[in-house]
Amino acid sequence: MRTPMIAGNWKMNTTVDEALALVREMHSGIHAAPHVDKVVCPAGICLSDLEAGLEAIANVDKVICPPFVSLASVKEIIKGSSIRLGAQNMYYEEKGAYTGEISPLMLASLCEFVILGHSERRQYFNETSEIVNKKIKAALAVGLKPILCVGERLEDNEAGRTEEVVAEQLSRSLAGIGSLEGLTVAYEPVWAIGTGRAATAKQANETIGFIRHSLRRLYTGVVAEGVRILYGGSVTADNAAELMKQPEIDGALVGGASLKADQFISITKQASEIKGSG
Ligand code: PGA
Repeated sequence: MRTPMIAGNWKMNTTVDEALALVREMHSGIHAAPHVDKVVCPAGICLSDLEAGLEAIANVDKVICPPFVSLASVKEIIKGSSIRLGAQNMYYEEKGAYTGEISPLMLASLCEFVILGHSERRQYFNETSEIVNKKIKAALAVGLKPILCVGERLEDNEAGRTEEVVAEQLSRSLAGIGSLEGLTVAYEPVWAIGTGRAATAKQANETIGFIRHSLRRLYTGVVAEGVRILYGGSVTADNAAELMKQPEIDGALVGGASLKADQFISITKQASEIKGSG
């Protein structure tokens, strides 16, 4: 019922040229599949090489989130393909004297999704759930689809406070938001991000089940059933299958492994095979 999603969060990586090279490689899988003829494509995407890359994978939403400065060029490159585009953050005001910020309106003409409340934003840029709440409202108001990140820190996890922390992040981030149409949640335990130490599939499944339960309490069963909930934190081609086999997990938000075309293609393929048959 819920279409699985694999989203790549490139974080603060890739120049514009590198971003374009990466997206071309992901799309066509040229390097990822050595058996495929390597066709030189000076501009745009090689339509002759579709078999091995993301474009050939069905039944899963494939989203890439490059840095702001690459969005426009990447958008051009993926035009007409099934790869979808997201940003990694935004400010909540529409426009004005906010030097250096990017507004929802600016993004709305460039991409479809926006990651909000990532733990790195919370940790390094002092983003609170109240700020995230304003951002989600502003994103929804212009038709952007937020990917709301929640997750506990190591000390919370060790103290058995995972559910408490996640429930609070959810209720504060979603305060006053009537409809969750278009919203995806990503459960990203902070201790699993970029550490190579993913949550076990069982842990991730349980907490995501709890997130859905919390959404049921905040909204209704029907609304909660419609929200996609991803797992994020050290997802790789090696642990993707185990995670995707879990009934509560609707996909993955992938950081480090989304910078390697072969890894990202493999994760997406596995999600499609395991989840996307329906
Ligand atoms: P990671 O990052 O896959 O590198 O752990 C995930 C994320 O931060 O979204």
